[in-house]
Amino acid sequence: MRVLAFNNLQPVHAQIAGELRAAVQRVLDSGWFVLGPEVESFEEKFAAYHGGGYVVGVANGTDALELALRGAGIGPGEEVITVAHTAVATICAIERAGAVPVFVDIDPRTYTIDVDAAAAAITPRTRAIVAVHLYGHPADMSRLQKLARRQGLMLIEDCAQAHGARHEGQLVGTMGDVAAFSFYPTKNLGALGDGGAVLTRHAALAERVRGLRNYGQVRRYEHRERGMNSRLDELQAAVLGVKLAYLDEHNARRRHLAERYRTGLLGRGVPVTLPREESSSHHVFHLYVVRHPRRDRLREHLDRCGIGTLVHYPIPVHLQHAYRDLGYRPGSLPHTEQAAREVVSLPMYIGLTEAQVEQVVEAMAAPRWEAA
Ligand SMILES: Cc1ncc(COP(=O)(O)O)c(C=O)c1O
Repeated sequence: MRVLAFNNLQPVHAQIAGELRAAVQRVLDSGWFVLGPEVESFEEKFAAYHGGGYVVGVANGTDALELALRGAGIGPGEEVITVAHTAVATICAIERAGAVPVFVDIDPRTYTIDVDAAAAAITPRTRAIVAVHLYGHPADMSRLQKLARRQGLMLIEDCAQAHGARHEGQLVGTMGDVAAFSFYPTKNLGALGDGGAVLTRHAALAERVRGLRNYGQVRRYEHRERGMNSRLDELQAAVLGVKLAYLDEHNARRRHLAERYRTGLLGRGVPVTLPREESSSHHVFHLYVVRHPRRDRLREHLDRCGIGTLVHYPIPVHLQHAYRDLGYRPGSLPHTEQAAREVVSLPMYIGLTEAQVEQVVEAMAAPRWEAA
């Protein structure tokens, strides 16, 4: 019997049900459902949260990344350096923009892009680096900024898992040329359906993305370039406007729960590798990921205890059947492949209690699962 689910979105929505209902009612009463005042208001609030810049609301995080790339002028045949230890969506977006993903390994301590490996992968065809702030931990943006500047590359941030995370005090999404966010319901800032946004300081890039998300339209029925339909709807924007006000509080709660996991697991001497937070970083723990060479045994044990876990991600993108034509082989990215074998995500969500964290720690402290 499942006593603790991996994730549960009910408690967070129960906490703010009144505000959510009012927001939904407002949209119903307005009779306006796609790209309207709620989207504009959310775009302004989300930009203000990031200290300025331009936000363009779109249909989901994958589209946000594709539009960020297209807005930045990256297109067919151009190489984009990124990681294979990410949601496959990162790669879908690069290919949908027409570009060629070039995979490099991760720094195994933070699970984010290895900057030296990225530098070594640059060719005359390289146009951009997509840094993925995986699990809520920022990539090493200061080194990436220097590299991108030196090499004349665009630096693009995939912030789908890291709303509100910081590197050297700066919010993710504000350190590259352009950034993409997902508002999938489980994200640190999640809608009640799909949603996404592009954030940039460059007015012209934002204007281009604004056109591209709406069939490439610049004025009604006037199309300057070929676009797509990727619009944020009013209901999701109204909900996101409510939830944005809680983002910092929710992230603080995730950090508190992560600290409870850390002290509990260390205190009990549970032999897993804990997530690392670089001293320059403010981790927002979208996921609480530990690792152990016998990860599958640990998962089976927790499953027997009724505790849900997931693996992000068991097959790295370069070894997925769908991407076999890209020419990578087992052994191409050793740290990525080892992480894929060893990582496991423990329950982490708003509404998870300290007692439930203790329950997971208690279950992991049982010696049985480790025995040969
Ligand atoms: C790292 C990363 N990039 C991109 C995406 C794509 O977002 P969406 O599911 O909203 O398209 C996700 C979400 O799964 C993600 O985790």
